[in-house]
Amino acid sequence: MQPFDPTWVRSRFPALSQEIDGNIPVFFDGPGGSQVPGSVLDAMSRYLITSNANAHGAFATSHRTDECIASARTAVADLLGCGPDEVVFGANMTTLTFAFSRAIGRELRPGDEIVVTRLDHYANVSPWQALEEEVGAVVRVVDFHTEDCTLDMEDLKRQINAKTRVVAIGYASNTVGTVNDVAAVVRLAHAVGAWVFVDAVHYSAHGPIDVRALDCDFLTCSAYKFYGPHVGILYGKRQHLAQLRPYKLLPAPEEIPSRWETGTLNYESLAGLVATIDYLAELGRCVSLSERANRREALLTALEASRQYERELCEQLISGLSKISGLTLYGITDPARFAWRTPTVAIRLAGKTPYAIAKELGDRGIFTWHGNFYALGIAEKLNVEAGGGFLRIGLLAYNTREEIERLLQALQEIAASE
Ligand SMILES: Cc1ncc(COP(=O)(O)O)c(C=O)c1O
Repeated sequence: MQPFDPTWVRSRFPALSQEIDGNIPVFFDGPGGSQVPGSVLDAMSRYLITSNANAHGAFATSHRTDECIASARTAVADLLGCGPDEVVFGANMTTLTFAFSRAIGRELRPGDEIVVTRLDHYANVSPWQALEEEVGAVVRVVDFHTEDCTLDMEDLKRQINAKTRVVAIGYASNTVGTVNDVAAVVRLAHAVGAWVFVDAVHYSAHGPIDVRALDCDFLTCSAYKFYGPHVGILYGKRQHLAQLRPYKLLPAPEEIPSRWETGTLNYESLAGLVATIDYLAELGRCVSLSERANRREALLTALEASRQYERELCEQLISGLSKISGLTLYGITDPARFAWRTPTVAIRLAGKTPYAIAKELGDRGIFTWHGNFYALGIAEKLNVEAGGGFLRIGLLAYNTREEIERLLQALQEIAASE
C-alpha cells in the first residue's frame, strides 16, 4: 500500500486551485458541502449533452437515462454494501427523511415511542417529532455528555423500552464530530423490536460504511457532502421498502425502490454521483496499488486511507487550537480517542461572535461556518445558541497541513485583536 497522496487528491478538484479576491481559498466548510472532482463535472455535462430525457421511454436518450439510474444504484450499493434495489434517491436527506418518517408513521399507534438524540442534526429529529401531533407518538430525547460531546449510552438504554418502534440516530455529529457507536445502538434497538434510522450525512465523507455489518434498517446520506453533486440517498432494507406504504401517485411504479421516488429524479446529479464514487474507487486503487480491486474493495480502501490522513490533520488542528488563548473547543480532544470523532471541530473565541470570526477568516480566503448547523440540541445544551452558536472548522481529505497552519496563524491574530 502506498501512502495517501494529498497532492494527487487535490489535483482532481478544479475548485481548489482557483483564486478568489487574490487568495487561493482554503475550504474548511466541508461539513456544509464539499468541492467536486473535475470528472464529476464532466459526467454531469456529458449526461446533459448525450442522454438528457425522461426515463422509461422508447428511444435512445431515454434508454441512456434508464442506464444512468441503474448505474447510480449499483455505485451506491458498492459504497454502502447493499443491493442496488435497496437504494432510493431523492432531493436531499431531509426530504427523504420526511417521506420515510411519514410512511413509518402510518404504521404507528398512539403511545408508540420514537427515540431521537440531542446530538443530531434536526433533519433526523423534527420529522419524527411531527409524528407526536400526527399519530400520538411519544418522542424521547437521548442526552449527551457535555464534557466531550459523546452520546450518553446509559441514557439511551433508559429511553429504549418495549414501546420503542424507531431509534433515529446520527452516525456522526455535523457540529462536534462525535462518531456514535451505531452498531451498539442497533443491537439495543433490535432487542426490543425497534427499527434504526441512521443519518450518515456527516459521516459518509469520513469513513467506510457497511450497512449489512451495522444491520441498520435505514441509512441516509447526501452526495454533496462526499465530493458529489446535490442528491439525497437512502438505504432501506429490502423488506421494509417492500412492506411500508409510500405516499405516491396512483399510477406510479409499485416495484422497489422506485415506488419511493416521487416525481422526476435529478438525472444529471445521478451521473455525477457515479463519477464521484468512481473517483473514490480510483483513489482506493492508487493507495492500494491494486488495479484489480473491485469497486467495493477500492472504496473501502479509499475511505479508510482518507480517515487515517484526516486523523493526522485533526491532531495538528486540535493541538494548534489548544494553544490559542481564550479559545474553547467542544468535543473529543484526546488523540487516543480520535476513532470516535471526525475532523470537524467546533470552537468559540472569547469576546468574538462565531459570525465575526467566520467573516474575518473569509476575508482572508479561509472558509468556515458559523451558527448551529441545525444541530440545535447541541447549541442549546452548551448554552451557545444565544451567542451565535459555534465556529465550525471541517477538514476533508483534500485539505493540507499548510492550510491548517494558515488557519491557526489567522486565528492567533484574530484572538489577539480587539
Ligand atoms: C448530519 C446532517 N444530517 C442531515 C443534513 C441535511 O442534509 P440535506 O441537506 O441533504 O437535507 C445535514 C446537512 O448539513 C447534516 O450535516
